[in-house]
Amino acid sequence: MIQTLFVMFAISLPCADAATSPVQTPTWGDPIRAIMQQHCVSCHHDRGAAPFALQTYEQVARRADFVAAVTSEGLMPPWPPSDQGLALADHRGLSAAERSAIRAWANAGMPIGDDKSPAVIPSAESIRHDMVLSMNEAWPMPAESRENWGRRDTDKWTFVLPLDNAEGLQVQAIEHVTAVPTAMHAISYLTDHTNLPQWQDARTEGPGHYMAGDVYDAPTGLMGTTGVGGRVRRLPDGYHWPVRARSSLIMQSHYRPTGKAEQVQDTVILELSADEDSRPVRVINLMKRFIDLPIGGVEVFRDSLTIPETVELVGMTPRVMGICTSLQVTADIPGEGLIVLLDIPDYDPHWRMMFQLDSPYELPAGTLLTAQWTIENTEENERNPFVPLDRLAMAKRTGSLSILLHVAAEDAVADQSLTEWHVLEMLSRLRRPVP
Ligand code: HEC
Repeated sequence: MIQTLFVMFAISLPCADAATSPVQTPTWGDPIRAIMQQHCVSCHHDRGAAPFALQTYEQVARRADFVAAVTSEGLMPPWPPSDQGLALADHRGLSAAERSAIRAWANAGMPIGDDKSPAVIPSAESIRHDMVLSMNEAWPMPAESRENWGRRDTDKWTFVLPLDNAEGLQVQAIEHVTAVPTAMHAISYLTDHTNLPQWQDARTEGPGHYMAGDVYDAPTGLMGTTGVGGRVRRLPDGYHWPVRARSSLIMQSHYRPTGKAEQVQDTVILELSADEDSRPVRVINLMKRFIDLPIGGVEVFRDSLTIPETVELVGMTPRVMGICTSLQVTADIPGEGLIVLLDIPDYDPHWRMMFQLDSPYELPAGTLLTAQWTIENTEENERNPFVPLDRLAMAKRTGSLSILLHVAAEDAVADQSLTEWHVLEMLSRLRRPVP
């Protein structure tokens, strides 16, 4: 990305539109400072996930042309979903007006205006510390990616954090604290009561192990995925992630080596809900187990399910590799027609996360859910991790291509029936299709 952006930076230098300066020239005081506050500093702060801070006038003015270039190209802030789908929480994208204000400000020579207030401070959201789980030993993150690491997709390492819970838990919020935010990219969670991950851990030296993190048929990301710069994920009141007694929290990290060896000793904080009426959030896994695509092939893969119960949808987590160039989830609702739930026209695994809805959305029983993924096994696909090109032939139990829909049924009976139905649906996908 750095290289392409520098090329763009060079060609976007001439300030051709400076002559047509708007009536009111934007200043740092209004509206640039507020744009940084709302859209940038969550990552671009001291010790944040981004490589430099955008908190003071000097920090932003120094890179004004670069900032104008990446924002007008839509590269920053990272926000892959288009506005076609349902309204999402923490919407990060810039409006056209905000983008042109940044450009006009850079062209006008970065006037400061009359706001002399100092640095923009990222919001310090935190959660109640009901359970604090810390890695008891640091994991030495390698300085560089290893060759062929993780199917040449991303670097990942999985950690097991025992919960030692005698009884079941209702998790309402998860906070992730890391000392290396620039390296820890996407953190996915699930829970396990089988002890299989401990067994895998024991076979690997040092903390953690290499494994995609799926446990039996429970996919990683079951409890969502925290993306770059993310810290807190909170379910709406009245919803929780259920955890069985005597479980462990499994934390799968997708990381990006920083060029020097780092010590990872992260902490996960859980906020629990005691609300007896709170509904458990389950996962509906739209997935394609088998993919087979020759070199040069471009194909749209689809999976559909008709839900037997009415559910509230709280969010969606795509789980796909960089070879996927776009994805979409739709719902065909009886009596209402087709709506788009999530649309990612230019998929980039670097910005993977759980996309939580602004507010839960009801999908009635009988709704046909369809996910589609476009895979381009070509040279032109610059995010194709398979270099040199190769036939893409994969089969993964919980989906080579998948999108997790985080849903809650209306009551305990519907929840039970939804869970049983989903197990059978997943089993039916295990058999290789007859060509
Ligand atoms: C979700 C976190 C996040 C947010 C929000 C964000 N950035 Fe970034 N930004 C990054 C990361 C991480 C990088 C490092 C490059 C990469 O990882 O692709 C980066 C890189 C950049 C770069 C340098 C590009 C390069 O390739 O070196 C600029 C300029 C930039 N961001 C500007 C902004 C501006 C302006 C905003 C707000 C409008 C913003 N960013 C919001 C995470 C973020």
